[in-house]
Amino acid sequence: QTAAMKEPRDNTQFVKIEHAAQILRAGDVVAMPTETVYGLAGNAQSDDAVVKIFETKSRPRFNPLIVHCATREMVEAIAEFPPLADILADKFWPGPLTMVLPKRDDAALSDLVTAGLDTVAIRMPKHEMARELIRQAGFPVAAPSANPSGKLSPTTAQHVLDGFEGRVPVIDGGPATEGVESTIVAVHDDQLILLRPGTISREALTEATGRSVLDPQDKTIKAPGMLLSHYAPNAAVRLNASDCVDGEAALNFGNSELTSAKAKLNLSAEGDLAEAARNLFSYLRKLDQAGVHTIAVAPIPELGLGEAINDRLRRAAADRN
Ligand code: TXA
Ligand code: MG
Repeated sequence: QTAAMKEPRDNTQFVKIEHAAQILRAGDVVAMPTETVYGLAGNAQSDDAVVKIFETKSRPRFNPLIVHCATREMVEAIAEFPPLADILADKFWPGPLTMVLPKRDDAALSDLVTAGLDTVAIRMPKHEMARELIRQAGFPVAAPSANPSGKLSPTTAQHVLDGFEGRVPVIDGGPATEGVESTIVAVHDDQLILLRPGTISREALTEATGRSVLDPQDKTIKAPGMLLSHYAPNAAVRLNASDCVDGEAALNFGNSELTSAKAKLNLSAEGDLAEAARNLFSYLRKLDQAGVHTIAVAPIPELGLGEAINDRLRRAAADRN
């Protein structure tokens, strides 16, 4: 194999952090690695930049974005910080936890980021390159997952290039180590509401705070791709499969034994949920590329990280109309 064959398909679309920071300061969008999934980043203070994010993804504008910060100082200029948020930040930041907090009246933030809400979703990513990009840009960065709306989230730089057909430059930070989007929790004075499960589990939130984690009462508060069909491959997805029908691809977990002549992968032969989360989106992509009509998925336990994995799988399986 020659060196040339290993070159990325479109070398010009891979950018270094310094260049990416310039792109952000110029009001454009760039894709950045995070530990969860790649994000489509833009200046959270600029209406124009935020509009570009929505347009690039074809994302409905009523669905607010997460603001990514590099420091606590940056966070506290944007949001009120109740004591429970403090506990969670100490324990889980930087990391795959997004907190929905009351927005400060004097927050320097485009109203398009929050879709007019008086709360704001904030996270401090663990990926060093993401925090370095934000530091160099000098402002908080709005970033939804770097994929066309409704499609599978990207866990590698190549996924980003594929999804936007090379139209968005990307910093290559390697494969995402978590693999599913951040846990989103709404933090109130006295309670926590889980808006989107992620790799920081409900149990871990309870352990850190001593509070039970509630489910949203009002489903009209639009959380995480609460548009039910989300994270969808082209193939249909059939959950809790105990066998594989002719022509289906198989996605196994642990010692499940779905077999397929077309294509077959195991999210984690060891039954490790963290490994399964890391592999989830890229394996769905790979099975999709086999051109099958349906991907049959073995049962995944609804424990710990299993809640996040099953959440994404249910959305992938949902009716697309
Ligand atoms: O891991 C992640 O969180 C990734 C990476 C790039 O950081 N980002 C991500 O962003 O998943 P996105 O836009 O795909 O999902 C953010 C979700 C949205 O579905 C939105 O409904 C919810 O966060 N959200 C944002 N602001 C909110 C708010 N003020 N109240 C309730 N939900 C909010
Ligand atoms: Mg997304």
